Amino acid sequence: MNLCYLIGYPVGHSMSAVMHNAAFRELGLDFRYKLRSVKPEALGHFVSSIMRRPDVRGASVTIPHKVSVMAHLDEVDVVARRIGAVNTIVNEDGWLKGYNTDSTGALRSLEDAFGDLRGAKVVILGAGGAARAISYQLAALVEELVILNRTLERAENLANSLIEFPECRSEVSAHSLTSESLERSLERADIVINATSVGMKPNTDASPIDSGLLRPDLLVLDIVYNPPMTKLLREAEAAGASTLTGIGMLVYQGAAAFKLWTGRNAPVETMMRSVEEALGVG
Ligand code: ATR
Repeated sequence: MNLCYLIGYPVGHSMSAVMHNAAFRELGLDFRYKLRSVKPEALGHFVSSIMRRPDVRGASVTIPHKVSVMAHLDEVDVVARRIGAVNTIVNEDGWLKGYNTDSTGALRSLEDAFGDLRGAKVVILGAGGAARAISYQLAALVEELVILNRTLERAENLANSLIEFPECRSEVSAHSLTSESLERSLERADIVINATSVGMKPNTDASPIDSGLLRPDLLVLDIVYNPPMTKLLREAEAAGASTLTGIGMLVYQGAAAFKLWTGRNAPVETMMRSVEEALGVG
C-alpha cells in the first residue's frame, strides 16, 4: 500500500481525496489518499517523521503550508522555487522533492477553452499564492498581463518578479483593484481570471467584478471551485461571456500530482466526474 496525504489546516472540505481515490481505483493501483490536518507548529515534525516513511509516496500541500513546507524538503523543483510555493511532495526513497502543479492546472484548463494563449491579453485579480502560480506560466506565453490586487504592494512585487523572470514574454503591469482599474483593463482583455477568494463559500453573494463590465467576447475563469458557479461566473454567463469554473484547474493540478506519484497518466475524466458529483454539479 502506498499512501498519499493532503496536508493542510484545516482540511475538512477538500475535494482532493474524492478525486485521487477515484483515480487510484480506476487504474487498480494500490494507493490510498488521506487527509491530514496538521497545525503550523507541527508541520516540520510531520514532514520529517511521517513523509519519509517507505509506505508514504507523497502529499498534496494546501493552505497554510504551501510556502513554509519548502524549508522542510530536500529539494524544490525550479518552477516551484520561482513561484515560491509547493503544492505537491514526492517521496523518493526518503528524499523529499517539492513541486508546484497549480500552475500547470490553470494553464491546461485555459488552453482547453481558449486554444493558443500566445497573443492573449489577460487580467488577473489577486496576488496571493494562486495568482503567483498562474502568473508565472502566463508570463512566459501571453502578450499582456495586468495584475490587479486589493493590496497594491503585493501586485507590484509580483509584477516586478515576473519582469525579472528570464522567460517573461509579456508586457506586465500592476494596479490596485478598483472599479476604475477594472474598467480600464477589461476593455482590452481577452481573458480575466479571479484568483482572489472573493465569492468563495460562505461569501457566495460577492463578486470581484461589477456585472456591467462583463462582455460576450471575454473568457472568465474563476479559481474558486466551491461553489463551482460563483456569482461572477453566473453574471458572466448572463452577459454572454465564456466561463470556466475552478474545477478544471483543481482536476488538472491533481492529474499532474498523480503522474508524479504513480508514473501513470491520470484518468482525468474520472477525476472530473468524481469532483462534480461531490459538489453536486454536472
Ligand atoms: P491564495 O494562496 O489562495 O491565493 P492568499 O495568498 O491568501 O491565498 O491570497 C488571497 C488573495 O485574495 C489576495 O490577492 C487577497 O488580496 P490582498 O493581497 O489584498 O489580501 C485577495 N482577497 C481576499 N479577500 C479579498 C477581498 N474581500 N477583496 C479583494 N481581494 C481579496
